[in-house]
Amino acid sequence: MRLERPHRTERFGAVRIHELQRVIELDSGGAGGDPRTSVRVPPEAIRDVERDMVIVVPCKNETRRVIEGVLSGIPHGCLILLVSNSVRQPVDRYEIEAQTVEQYCQLAERTAITVHQRDPGLAAAMKAAGATDITDEYGLLRSGKGEGMLVGLALAALTGRRYLGFIDADNFAPGAVNEYCKAYSTALHLADSPYAMVRISWHSKPKLRDGKLFFSRRGRTSEVTNRFLNQLIGEYSGFGTEVVATGNAGEHAFTMDLGLKLRLAGGFAIEPFEYLDMFEQFGGVLDSPHPEVMERSVSVTQIETRNPHFHDNKGELHVRDMRLQALNVIYHSAVCLPSVRADVLEFLAGQGSLVPGDEPPRERIYPAVGTLALDRFCDVVLAEAYSLRQFGDSVDGSPEPVTQLNRARVSTGQRG
Ligand code: GDD
Ligand code: MG
Repeated sequence: MRLERPHRTERFGAVRIHELQRVIELDSGGAGGDPRTSVRVPPEAIRDVERDMVIVVPCKNETRRVIEGVLSGIPHGCLILLVSNSVRQPVDRYEIEAQTVEQYCQLAERTAITVHQRDPGLAAAMKAAGATDITDEYGLLRSGKGEGMLVGLALAALTGRRYLGFIDADNFAPGAVNEYCKAYSTALHLADSPYAMVRISWHSKPKLRDGKLFFSRRGRTSEVTNRFLNQLIGEYSGFGTEVVATGNAGEHAFTMDLGLKLRLAGGFAIEPFEYLDMFEQFGGVLDSPHPEVMERSVSVTQIETRNPHFHDNKGELHVRDMRLQALNVIYHSAVCLPSVRADVLEFLAGQGSLVPGDEPPRERIYPAVGTLALDRFCDVVLAEAYSLRQFGDSVDGSPEPVTQLNRARVSTGQRG
């Protein structure tokens, strides 16, 4: 893959955010090229990262055919981890999903893991690991995309793999899924710090208007989230900026060394909160609990992919809700400045989402997965999470049977 070379980088303390880079070639052949204009990563280097990557697919009531398409787009070397919060009654949709994954693994000769977010065994494992607040009044793990991703991150930490990427299960175009994954590996290969993140900004989202396809450039949530994140960065540096183009990026990836240190927010606040948590922990405004990260700095790459982003349209209310969750975490962040807070309030009041004088609600923020007792999580999840399935028994023709989740491989993100 060949990417545009980024020329500008904004810093927020030890967090380096590179400007958006376009994909120039999906397949760029070998290495080399003019380093002044583009960066080129050969397929072997991309494959090396893929073999060390878990792709977490959060899934809630998506159709089987669409899930099949998503699976087919995930590069062979990646380990697939489907975290489902689909309904189990009257039809057990999780069973259908697990069967779909199993059949796919047989055909594609690869490995995958599936689990249901509301499995009591999973909640017990989280509790045993010391996670509080993530369970609800029924003693089960809370619903929410962020909560599902947190489960994915905790399970990925038991595989020993060094990278983790997220791909939504409602992606209609397998080619786009493939491009997102290639972009992850390309950026993570290029990263000059063990603490690296890559976020996708899709090129366009096709919509039907008067019977014609219109390729809309930006998402309705992202525009607002990006504006306020950029305002925050700009007010610290004293210079306006538009560097953040991926405030809501559902498709993103990171090194486990970084991911295990991040506190995650629940629901759809998870993606914007990743930026805020990096600013809080590594931004130099507050004391950092991780001097090793401050020393090496954090690299955030943003990639504009080529494929149009086709996904399920979940309606206006859903979009509004997502936007609110993003603004709530910006407002309540410990590094948010009074001027930004005031503008968020004004925006929310202008939209009729908040009564003037009220405060936006707080989203749930969970402790970093790396602070949990992951060895205990592993023991309990393997013993008690009955929805957990591990399919396929070898990786890339290796004669050794591979158990993907393994106590001996537990990583705490403390290396590097
Ligand atoms: N495990 C799990 N648990 N998965 C969930 C849950 C949940 O409670 N809720 C939603 N999902 C899955 C969906 O099935 C889908 O695959 C994915 O998470 C994204 O959810 P959508 O409901 O499709 O969200 P969206 O498409 O409107 O928003 C996406 O894009 C935004 C940026 O444009 C999400 O990825 C957002 O997080 C992102 O900000
Ligand atoms: Mg979607």
